[in-house]
Amino acid sequence: MRGCEQIPWLYDGLMALMEPFGLGRWRQNLIRGATGRTLEVGCGTGRNLPLYGSRAQVMALDPDLGVVRTARRRAPAVPLVIASAEALPFRRESFETVVSGLVFCSVPNPHRGLREVGRVLAVDGCLRMMEHVRHHRPRLAQIQDRVQPGWTWFTGGCHPNRDTEATVTKAGFTIDPHSRRARGVMRLFVARVR
Ligand SMILES: C[S@@+](CC[C@H](N)C(=O)[O-])C[C@H]1O[C@@H](n2cnc3c(N)ncnc32)[C@H](O)[C@@H]1O
Repeated sequence: MRGCEQIPWLYDGLMALMEPFGLGRWRQNLIRGATGRTLEVGCGTGRNLPLYGSRAQVMALDPDLGVVRTARRRAPAVPLVIASAEALPFRRESFETVVSGLVFCSVPNPHRGLREVGRVLAVDGCLRMMEHVRHHRPRLAQIQDRVQPGWTWFTGGCHPNRDTEATVTKAGFTIDPHSRRARGVMRLFVARVR
């Protein structure tokens, strides 16, 4: 399925409109704190890649070749891999940090993808995640359910109605309550394998 997530100029244009109104700050908070061997899952066009500091040795992956080409131009020094979260081509405990920004709304099998993230994380490693999630108010969640098919088609995979925090917990992680930021449907948190 192809949608705006797979059309780099369109995705970057939409993000450039949203980032000055708060999303840019969420991105900075997502990346701040990434240390050691770091994997960014679902890097897309690489909008986060220039934000990493020198304490993180970053590599990134995405299943879509078109967006990875744009990420390469944006961050030529970062090693990039074409792969999916559900089948990470890395040994267990390979990374101190895994970063995921606006990705698990689009991963076809989020539970499997998160189990894979847990597998490749080192024992004391952490998942840093930014995501938009299912609304806590049932009426608004119902609206998300109604718009989901059209939205998934338009975006090329995004589901606005996923309860991703619950999926993270079911996949074996504990969300650090002190790290958690919630605003509307946006969430940012650090999670560790139990
Ligand atoms: C909304 S974009 C987010 C891109 C980037 N992380 C950002 O913050 O701008 C979602 C990304 O998830 C990627 N994606 C979709 N399915 C995936 C999967 N199974 N594994 C990893 N990434 C996936 C898409 O190709 C797309 O680049």
